[in-house]
Amino acid sequence: MNKIGVIFDLDGVIVDTAKYHFLAWKQLANHLGFEFTEAHNELLKGVSRVRSLEILLDIGKVSLSEEKKQEYLKSKNEHYLKYIMKMGPEEILPGANALLDKLDNLGIEYVLGSASKNAPLILKQVNLFERFSGIVDGNSVTKAKPDPEVFLIGAQKLNLKPEQCVVFEDAIAGVEAANKANMISVGIGDSNTLHEADFNFKSLTEIPHDFFTAVIPEKIM
Ligand code: BG6
Ligand code: MG
Repeated sequence: MNKIGVIFDLDGVIVDTAKYHFLAWKQLANHLGFEFTEAHNELLKGVSRVRSLEILLDIGKVSLSEEKKQEYLKSKNEHYLKYIMKMGPEEILPGANALLDKLDNLGIEYVLGSASKNAPLILKQVNLFERFSGIVDGNSVTKAKPDPEVFLIGAQKLNLKPEQCVVFEDAIAGVEAANKANMISVGIGDSNTLHEADFNFKSLTEIPHDFFTAVIPEKIM
């Protein structure tokens, strides 16, 4: 059997931090004088911090100096971190712990592949930091998703070829990055939104019991 490895996105797959990003971006938008809705927030999923600010400013039709942008990026992150510091293991999304246990039992290695520069901190907050055999985050890449860089570095950490890697993602940009990397993409969330993924599940609780022992090996044969 072909050896496989797994790369997990963090926000939206392992933990739901989108709600905290939303609160922090919304406060900034309101400060700048416009509304920021949950639908707007969808556009920021999987996207880097800097790109998120650009999208937000487009929504409000606001243009800012580079200096102001840097100031707002900093204050948004400080606000966001206030929520992150209160997180605990109870915020791990349903099915995530069981899936990691299963991979451990099967001897399948997994790493993190996240756009977030706060990923190590978030993993520590929920007591998952030690479980991953490698972490690729927003600090390790030069190009953000949908560029495949984050996942290609993940494959190197796993010592596997891209086609042996299975990526779990909740964002369109992430699924696109996994597909571009020539990996198997698993969309977690709305299957209409993530229709470009090789497999779709509403949540991690829905992964079939033979997914890693039969479904994936069959796909990469
Ligand atoms: C991704 C989130 O995981 O990380 C995005 O889905 C976020 O919404 C991005 O913008 C960057 O996060 P951070 O923590 O570096 O601001
Ligand atoms: Mg995500």
